[in-house]
Amino acid sequence: MHARAVAATTTALLGAFALLLLVHDARGMGARPEVIAHRGASARAPENTLAAVDAAADLGVRWVETDVQRTRDGELVVIHDDSLRRTTDVEEVFPGRAPWQVKDFTAAEIARLDAGSWFGSAYAGARVPTLKEYLRRVGHHHQKLLLEIKNPQLYPRIEGETLKVLSNEGWLDRRHLAGRLIVQSFSADSLRAVHDLRPAVTTGLLGKPSEADLPRYARFADLINPSHTSASQSYVSAVHAVPGPHGKPLKVFVWTVDDAPVACTVAGYGVDGIITNRPDVVRQALLRP
Ligand code: G3P
Ligand code: CA
Repeated sequence: MHARAVAATTTALLGAFALLLLVHDARGMGARPEVIAHRGASARAPENTLAAVDAAADLGVRWVETDVQRTRDGELVVIHDDSLRRTTDVEEVFPGRAPWQVKDFTAAEIARLDAGSWFGSAYAGARVPTLKEYLRRVGHHHQKLLLEIKNPQLYPRIEGETLKVLSNEGWLDRRHLAGRLIVQSFSADSLRAVHDLRPAVTTGLLGKPSEADLPRYARFADLINPSHTSASQSYVSAVHAVPGPHGKPLKVFVWTVDDAPVACTVAGYGVDGIITNRPDVVRQALLRP
């Protein structure tokens, strides 16, 4: 009786160990987190410009994050705020057009704006890129893209339009789908729309849903991406325990981490990616034993 109990316990322990190895292998636990340049290498060059993509490439950073929105005439452009005011000279060029919303300007008008001088004179003349231009520059550098659909409530049907541009530019082929592209949003509805339109696309939900709600979001989100201030080891473990829409454990990319001690802390939580304005600082921190 005792021998049978020992055998049963041993079998159970071996099973649990095998399962642990499987999970370990599936999500690369123990591997260093990916480093993602937030809005490009945005501490070195104006955010969401081609110069910021180049700056990330110069640092050897493989992932860039950016934000897509839509002009009045339907062009998809890369910019973070819903207004052009902070990151361009729109107030000078179009003084009577407050509050200078992206959605109220045509692509030709936005193409006239200087999106670099606010950051530094060395970047005078940098433009707000179209999504197409941005994808080509990221592809040119053989980088990977974390693409945020920004303010989707302002842009009905932007999900399908974004997928169309991605497809036209070759970003929905097998190679890109297998690990070069993630589409993310704070909007669960927007993310669900992306998943329904192209289920093969890897998707990330920004924010920190409750642990109880994770299985619901895991029907259409492969990643859960909370701010680093709201993340914890237990939350990351809870996310990793849930299988995503493609049958793999959900992953976690945290944002926005710009200093070394915080990078080490979140790496210790077991996150899969760290989104940062200073990818050089974070990468260096992660190299430390
Ligand atoms: O990628 C995460 C981060 O970009 C979300 O916040 O405001 O910088 O777009 P935000
Ligand atoms: Ca973003």
